[in-house]
Amino acid sequence: MSIPNHVAIIMDGNGRWAKQRRLPRYFGHREGVNSLKRIVRYCGDIGIKILTVYAFSTENWNRPAGEVQYLMKLMELTFGVELEELVQNGVKVRVIGDITSVSPKQQQIWRSAEERTKHNDRLFLNVAFNYGGRMEITQAIRGIASDVLEGKFTIDQITEEVVNRYLYTKDLADPDLIIRTGGELRMSNFLLWQSAYSEWYFTETLWPDFDIEEFKKALESFKQRERRFGRVYE
Ligand code: FPP
Repeated sequence: MSIPNHVAIIMDGNGRWAKQRRLPRYFGHREGVNSLKRIVRYCGDIGIKILTVYAFSTENWNRPAGEVQYLMKLMELTFGVELEELVQNGVKVRVIGDITSVSPKQQQIWRSAEERTKHNDRLFLNVAFNYGGRMEITQAIRGIASDVLEGKFTIDQITEEVVNRYLYTKDLADPDLIIRTGGELRMSNFLLWQSAYSEWYFTETLWPDFDIEEFKKALESFKQRERRFGRVYE
């Protein structure tokens, strides 16, 4: 298998990209959206089926209010005003994360983005928004416990497949390749359950600078790896 089926990306380094240019941080986020669009188009072109991106974590609310507001505006623009571009490109949007605690206007934008792209199947784009891996697992545990109490199944019947069904990514294959830009070497609460056997690719390149050439390097690195899933191959 040379091309990964599912690629996930931690898009880090927007702030530093702007700082390098003595620009306010939000310029970096704006450029980050352009980078995202470039990668979305390319994934569709080369036949990657699923792309999951970390757009806003449950911890990102702690940023300065102005920056949070700007990120929300960008989200509204990209998945509201400019949605047609995704519709035309055959992209099926799904938000993964807790959107019940964001503004009604934003909930509406996500719902309508999902609704308007639901018949597309060229590229599945999962946007992790107000997402945290531990939170996702916690809400899965709540769901399972509640269904056990209701007698839908017994404790013995809780398998990994059952747990999968309670995650935001329920019907999607796990990521084959996870890319983190911006030089940090950590998972930051991203897809904790789903990444059990994912290959990681870390690069110093800041997200706004992550172009097709950089993406090809990550795909090339993935190609070289031997995925054993805990087994031994002679
Ligand atoms: C990390 O850069 C990036 C984010 C917290 C947000 C990622 C968002 C985008 C790429 C824009 C697309 C998102 C939406 C919602 C449309 P950073 O600010 O942590 O950079 P730094 O580590 O250099 O400070």
